Amino acid sequence: MAEDRAPENPEGDEPIKQRKNGLYPAVSDELTEVMKSGWADTELHDLQPVEQAPYAAKRRAALSARFPGDRLVIPAGNLKTRANDTEYAFRAATEYVHLTGDQTQDAVLVMEPRADGGHDATAYLLPRSSRENGEFWLDGQGELWTGRRNSLAEGELLLGLPCRDVRKAADELLEATGPVRVVRGYDAGIEAALHDKVTAERDAELKEFLSELRLVKDEWEIGELQKAVDSTARGFEDVVKVLDKAEATSERYIEGTFFLRARIEGNDIGYGSICAAGPHACTLHWVRNDGPVRSGELLLLDAGVETHSLYTADVTRTLPISGRFTDLQRKIYDAVYESQQAGIEAVKPGAAFRDFHDAAQRVLAEKLVEWGLLDGPVERVLELALQRRWTLHGTGHMLGLDVHDCATARTETYVNGTLEPGMVLTVEPGLYFQADDLTVPEEYRGIGVRIEDDILVTADGNRNLSAGLPRRSAEVESWMAALKG
Ligand code: GLY
Ligand code: MN
Ligand code: MN
Repeated sequence: MAEDRAPENPEGDEPIKQRKNGLYPAVSDELTEVMKSGWADTELHDLQPVEQAPYAAKRRAALSARFPGDRLVIPAGNLKTRANDTEYAFRAATEYVHLTGDQTQDAVLVMEPRADGGHDATAYLLPRSSRENGEFWLDGQGELWTGRRNSLAEGELLLGLPCRDVRKAADELLEATGPVRVVRGYDAGIEAALHDKVTAERDAELKEFLSELRLVKDEWEIGELQKAVDSTARGFEDVVKVLDKAEATSERYIEGTFFLRARIEGNDIGYGSICAAGPHACTLHWVRNDGPVRSGELLLLDAGVETHSLYTADVTRTLPISGRFTDLQRKIYDAVYESQQAGIEAVKPGAAFRDFHDAAQRVLAEKLVEWGLLDGPVERVLELALQRRWTLHGTGHMLGLDVHDCATARTETYVNGTLEPGMVLTVEPGLYFQADDLTVPEEYRGIGVRIEDDILVTADGNRNLSAGLPRRSAEVESWMAALKG
């Protein structure tokens, strides 16, 4: 078999990493034999189901009821190559996580239709690496390189689902007959196997339904979102404590500080942190974070910790870097606060989703007219949406496993829908005066303020999950003073 083998690694000390069926480094038959045996049996027999298993089962039941007779295929997704044999960190697809509680790369949930209209769910997972064929140490994705995986039997205990080898999934799906739907965009191999059996329209209906299934959070999800918010609040405190170090370096110090909290307490950040000092606050998605941090200016920090279960917070505070707002900064900040307060008060069951946006925009339009930046009356400003030159974006969105959760829900159930208990959304108005905006007095230019909180709709109103972080200007100042010591 010498022709199947790669030449000796020229560096000599680094083993060559190979995917299965690729070229193997030259290894002697004796070493191959030796590597097969002498390994302890580490199978775990007393695993308890993951906490979210019963909730995931209920979600699968709802999915089954919506698509009787259809085979439903929900992939977790694959690794994405960064360069050569290095990959981006894996993050399992939201739809798969929501329906299983699992995060295994390459996995696929298959809902097999039964004659009675229900479905049998199976999680197809990557099993443990074989010692016998050398995969565990000769394949770059073998367990010796990437860490131990769960066996299929362990997967069954953890997820409460039958588990099968995912390497058989594509072939089994190719052979299967009857109508199929797949969640697109995560697993090219699975999609290729199903290519002749699916249509874009039917697949979009599946994705749309799964997005709408996440509109109302259950009690376990609300607990996870609260954890995400609490970790995020600690991350914001970390940042305030190191503002002097950021002033000596750049916005990167803030980004790195928050990231440390996210990695220590959670899985990751839920989206690229926006660490926008001075005029960068007016760039809505400022994630380069390579600018200076200067006393006397504002820091707009928009960041969220993602929990180990992959739920994310999405919080923004705009902080005076010196610890004290100037008069003009305070005037603009207090206007955004008032707008946000009006928005939060409009979040209640039975309200239209758009109501909090309208309430918050009205306050901002009133302020802009009061300050002489827009000609009134306010009704005309709102009708023509003239305030948007400085308010720029929508006032909030659903929050959950994705920062912009439920993004493929239908307009009638989300944007034109009605708030219900269990929905979690952000309320995040802002005012942004670009540095080159000649229509505002010079002293306004380069000031950007956003305040963003994560709000749970309750049976009788709402609960601010991020209320632990101060929002009023005076309270922000005293909070910062206490942290800076
Ligand atoms: N961090 C993105 C947003 O606020 O929507
Ligand atoms: Mn945000
Ligand atoms: Mn947001």
